[in-house]
Amino acid sequence: MIGQLTLEDYLQRYSETGPLALAVATAVDAITVAAIEIAELTGRGALSDKSGLATGRNSDGDLQRDLDVQADAIIRRCLGKVPIAALASEEMQEAEIGDREARICVAIDPLDGSSNIDINMTVGTIFSILPAPDDPSLAFGQCGTAQLAAGFVTYGPQTSLVLTLGDGVDIFTLDRAAGGFRLARRALRIPDTAEEFAINASNRRHWDPPVRAFIDECLAGVDGPASRDFNMRWIGSLVAEAYRILSRGGVFLYPSDARPGYGDGRLRLVYEAHPIAFIIEQAGGAASTGRERILDLAAHSLHQRVPLIMGSSGEVRRVEELHCDPLPAASVSAPLFAQRGFFRL
Ligand code: F6P
Ligand code: MN
Repeated sequence: MIGQLTLEDYLQRYSETGPLALAVATAVDAITVAAIEIAELTGRGALSDKSGLATGRNSDGDLQRDLDVQADAIIRRCLGKVPIAALASEEMQEAEIGDREARICVAIDPLDGSSNIDINMTVGTIFSILPAPDDPSLAFGQCGTAQLAAGFVTYGPQTSLVLTLGDGVDIFTLDRAAGGFRLARRALRIPDTAEEFAINASNRRHWDPPVRAFIDECLAGVDGPASRDFNMRWIGSLVAEAYRILSRGGVFLYPSDARPGYGDGRLRLVYEAHPIAFIIEQAGGAASTGRERILDLAAHSLHQRVPLIMGSSGEVRRVEELHCDPLPAASVSAPLFAQRGFFRL
């Protein structure tokens, strides 16, 4: 089946299970049509008239590149042919209300990690598909557990679709010669124990004590409480980090920190954390803010940020433990205090 089954056939089989599944399959198909076009665009690099250079800022003040805008336009054109009750995008201030009879809503990050585009690193498209509520304006205030499907496409050495329809995670890789996706890996499982961690360590001085304590445990390796050595990676592209964790385990942290504007971390709940958390859980991993399960959260605003700690369940649980029990966290991460005795019992 690996290498043989086309995405088209896979979606066809799924769509036969009912009208809601048909609506989901139709949207996934449209997103992958858009993804092939985005892969071509990002793959042309400097040969394209789209430079990857910053052109402005999006609704939330992030630098917006011309490729972000172009990717958003491609996705919206392709999804425009599909019945969708509401569409949200990182690049749009407000959600767009569409066909009120439609069964589904879609939230999308058209080009995740686009700061990597001009350095030829992997970027991607992330999507979340939700059931349409009676009032479509409430579509993106649903809990992450309501998601019907989620996925992301990586534009790297391979263009690959990582997909969950709520029953495990499969990967499809673009066969460029044939112009379509084929099943590449089935039923992915993330090991419970991580051997790699990923965090932007330049923010260390801004982290909360539980996050510092966890990273200190990783750095202590065999000599610390984890009793094993860790490797470290930071790509700066959520899709690439998620792909790596799905492939060989690991833990990723984009926590809240003390920088102005980072009180809830950096990543967006609706079109980044929710879909990634759904995929990670479907592969046997965990995703948390450090205090709560990501999928139990419901957004109160479209571009809401959320701390995201995801990957191998053992490490995510350890980060949660350190958040519940701040005392060991404080003593591990504030040696000066411990030495001077302010917190000594
Ligand atoms: O979408 C935001 C994003 O580009 C993610 O893909 C990535 O994980 C993160 O930002 C990197 O943030 P920073 O540049 O702060 O390390
Ligand atoms: Mn993003």
